[in-house]
Amino acid sequence: MQGYSKDGTDRTNMTKADIDVVAPDIIEKLDRVKGCRHHFPLLRQRVNGKALVYLDNAATSQKPQIVIDSMMRYYQEENSNIHRGVHYLSERATQAYEAVRSKVQHFLNAASRREIVFVRGTTEAINLVANSYGRNHVEKGDEVIISGMEHHSNIVPWQILCQETGAKLRVIPINDDGEILMDEYERLLTERTKMVALVHVSNALGTINSVKQMIGLAHERGVPVLIDGAQAVPHMRVDVSDLDCDFYAISSHKVFGPTGVGVLYGKEKHLEAMPPYQGGGDMIKSVTFEKTIYNDLPYKFEAGTPNIGGGIGFGAAIDYVNNMDMGAVAAYERDLLEYATENISSIKGVQIIGTAKEKASVLSFVIDGIHAHDIGTILDSEGIAVRTGHHCAQPVMQRFGIPATARASFAFYNTKEEIDALVSGVHKVIEVLG
Ligand code: ALA
Repeated sequence: MQGYSKDGTDRTNMTKADIDVVAPDIIEKLDRVKGCRHHFPLLRQRVNGKALVYLDNAATSQKPQIVIDSMMRYYQEENSNIHRGVHYLSERATQAYEAVRSKVQHFLNAASRREIVFVRGTTEAINLVANSYGRNHVEKGDEVIISGMEHHSNIVPWQILCQETGAKLRVIPINDDGEILMDEYERLLTERTKMVALVHVSNALGTINSVKQMIGLAHERGVPVLIDGAQAVPHMRVDVSDLDCDFYAISSHKVFGPTGVGVLYGKEKHLEAMPPYQGGGDMIKSVTFEKTIYNDLPYKFEAGTPNIGGGIGFGAAIDYVNNMDMGAVAAYERDLLEYATENISSIKGVQIIGTAKEKASVLSFVIDGIHAHDIGTILDSEGIAVRTGHHCAQPVMQRFGIPATARASFAFYNTKEEIDALVSGVHKVIEVLG
């Protein structure tokens, strides 16, 4: 994984003696990562008579007990609407919810709480930017650049914007390994470009894009950049100030928190100038039939009662992740990915889709003559959960000339024993259907 060597250490400036001293410590760190598995109660169950092997983490991750407990506690002890009541419970819920905003600010290293907008998830965050920033900055003849490996949520909102404004959607092609062609990107960046929207880590291929470099190239031409970070935050530390992105979108449920809550990070100068995306309660300072004065940031973008319990669960997930050594997590997951890649790709008739040099722990594959859904069904009968289909990234499938893949995606609570089960499962698929 980017920034870390296989054992989780940046070895660039180390001598061999340094590495020898560090190694036992690293082994202990990796064991500690592995030891976290027991924090996730769902993983203890059996499915179809077999121990569950959950390898669908890119779709949604499992939740540690502290996340589940925090939401139970909220509903048992604090449930109340926020920002509205003067009563004890409302103040307590408001404090708990707003504390999460500060946690997210520090988690992403944003400059201010005003830059953290709560939304339903990455999809809503991108729609917010396309509708609010996009409609105010993109006109007929302008261009919006995305890459050929985007999730539908980072294609369709821009496509709608382009259809409505007469702008053009330009797509950076990807190579056979599933990597962005940087010279094509530079060629597409012109004075017509008004926005670049890129995925940080591809959900279908696992590719980790060089977003910092790509943001720099766009900024040299004065073009703002939105990053879809849904698949990045579970695997690496993300620092929006260091990336210097204009917008960054994440979902809680990919990073061990509950569904239905996510965050749009936006630079204050942009958010300040943008009109609201939705109207309603909480996003206003005053309303008459003639005129509405909008609320300050970030509330201007938070119309209606939010997912308060989900937000509190998200806060607990951030606490959980903050307690992990993300260097060790990255190293552990890299090891899992290498082990899985080696063992799955050596099975006759299996082809890995997505072989980028920089990858997160996502392994998409196809088997000659067998449909991905059939792979998924047989693996399920073995208690193994993978995702099959186009992964909400149909253009990626078209690029590789396939209808679908089977995708195993790993989190730090997965083990090599589970990968062995996957390998046996794939052998069984070929035995039954090959
Ligand atoms: N975007 C999610 C996935 O990759 C749903 O599975």
